[in-house]
Amino acid sequence: MTDRELMSMAREASMNAYVPYSRFAVGAAIECSDGTVYTGCNIENAALGSTICAERTACVKAVSDGKHDFRRIAIYADSQNWCTPCGACRQFLAEFSPNMEVLCAKAGSRYVSYKLSELLPHTFNY
Ligand code: THU
Repeated sequence: MTDRELMSMAREASMNAYVPYSRFAVGAAIECSDGTVYTGCNIENAALGSTICAERTACVKAVSDGKHDFRRIAIYADSQNWCTPCGACRQFLAEFSPNMEVLCAKAGSRYVSYKLSELLPHTFNY
């Protein structure tokens, strides 16, 4: 699967975002080491701190299916800024695959690519 195909799955997933509070829809598509892809969107809650980001939705879907190794994640938001993952999502993803690639889009078809280890150096672990 190409980066663009993975990003297009993330974009599609953003259509299911439940965002009555922020109105900021995000979609993610995470590719496992066996090539399978899980998508996710952000799901907000009236208790705002209970909101889950798109990246973690995709990741928990994969982990709950027994997948622990990831190659790439694509993140899409129809935004002015590159949709880079929040700090909590960086830590969450790094638990499984600190060297995975992170593709971050913004409105239009452009995206930037990072290694998770550059977005979150010195990940906490024990
Ligand atoms: N959000 C994500 O889903 N992923 C990110 O990388 C950044 C933020 C969500 C959380 C909340 O629903 C909305 O975007 C605004 O913060």
